[in-house]
Amino acid sequence: MTNVLVTGGAGVLGARLARQLLATGALAAGGAPAQPVTRLTLVDRVPPPADLTADHRVTAIVGDLTELLEPGRAGSSLAGTAALAGADVIFHLAAAVSAECETDFDLGMRVNLGGTQALLERCRGAASRPVVVFASSLAVFGASAEHPLPRVVDDHTMANPQSSYGMQKLICEQLLAGYTRKGFLRGRAVRLMTVSVRPGRPNAAASGFLSAIIREPLAGRRARCPVGPRTEVALSSPARAIDGLLCAAAASDAAWGDPTPVNLPALTATVAGLVAALERVAGPQASALIDWLPDPAVAAIVTGWPARFRTDRAERLGLRPDPDVDSVIRMYLAETMIT
Ligand SMILES: NC(=O)c1ccc[n+]([C@@H]2O[C@H](COP(=O)([O-])OP(=O)(O)OC[C@H]3O[C@@H](n4cnc5c(N)ncnc54)[C@H](O)[C@@H]3O)[C@@H](O)[C@H]2O)c1
Repeated sequence: MTNVLVTGGAGVLGARLARQLLATGALAAGGAPAQPVTRLTLVDRVPPPADLTADHRVTAIVGDLTELLEPGRAGSSLAGTAALAGADVIFHLAAAVSAECETDFDLGMRVNLGGTQALLERCRGAASRPVVVFASSLAVFGASAEHPLPRVVDDHTMANPQSSYGMQKLICEQLLAGYTRKGFLRGRAVRLMTVSVRPGRPNAAASGFLSAIIREPLAGRRARCPVGPRTEVALSSPARAIDGLLCAAAASDAAWGDPTPVNLPALTATVAGLVAALERVAGPQASALIDWLPDPAVAAIVTGWPARFRTDRAERLGLRPDPDVDSVIRMYLAETMIT
């Protein structure tokens, strides 16, 4: 019997993860054999989709994570509940995203840093010593004058975030590693690549256009591309991102190794390559719907991230990147035609 908690459970990855957990019905945690998922708690500031709450195993807790974690808080709370105190696996996905954190520094510090620290503190008080999977980001990497990025980022490349969001993710990785070393919980930080193609409405991530320039033209709508066609990016389909989160949850302490973060596999592509793939899949009328309108603020964030990765540690865990952009687009089309 496995008790699972997902923060950010109404988000794109959180809801997808929840659907997959419910469909599979079981989860392997920390090297143990898979056990039935008997309880799945989704925490988010917005309600999760109705198909998830219709499942008898799901409980939704709606509210701001940092407030829900306040000890002794009146009304709905997460601190001290069985959902948290008895959780076997926690997927911590709730976050303010990159562009939001750049425009509102205090928001990112409160939600991304404060929320994560409060969550880890509550886990420390729990008897279950949960496996905590933390969704970190390639945004922990960046170039500065003294520390240029190597041509290829590997498992030993120094993190050097150049955005508020990346800085908050890096601090949280270190907190997770520290709490793991102390034996309070079993931390698994994974650095996700930019997820594309994200379904649904755009969020405030600086990388959101990397989904929008595919998703919107496929739906017959115009999309804005704020960077030049030669910009290189590191991508992952939603499916491969979920594979990474589940693999992190399943790995034994020995297989995971160091409590340091694992870079998930990346598919390297140029924006021109994405558009060419869109054209191959959906024709020139689709790519004609892209407006090339530079946005220096977005470009400064996205072009500062690395695009080429060598991910030996992830590959030892059995993870692989998407084979090519065409297959990522075809997967998105197949999935959105089903739903
Ligand atoms: N999607 C990507 O390209 C990508 C890349 C790297 C890392 N990540 C990380 O993966 C995680 C999930 O990303 P996603 O793509 O599903 O994003 P998303 O924006 O779709 O989901 C995040 C969810 O967190 C919730 N949330 C935000 N602040 C909250 C708060 N204070 N209290 C409660 N809930 C709150 C939001 O309502 C949202 O549903 C995030 O931590 C993100 O930083 C995503």
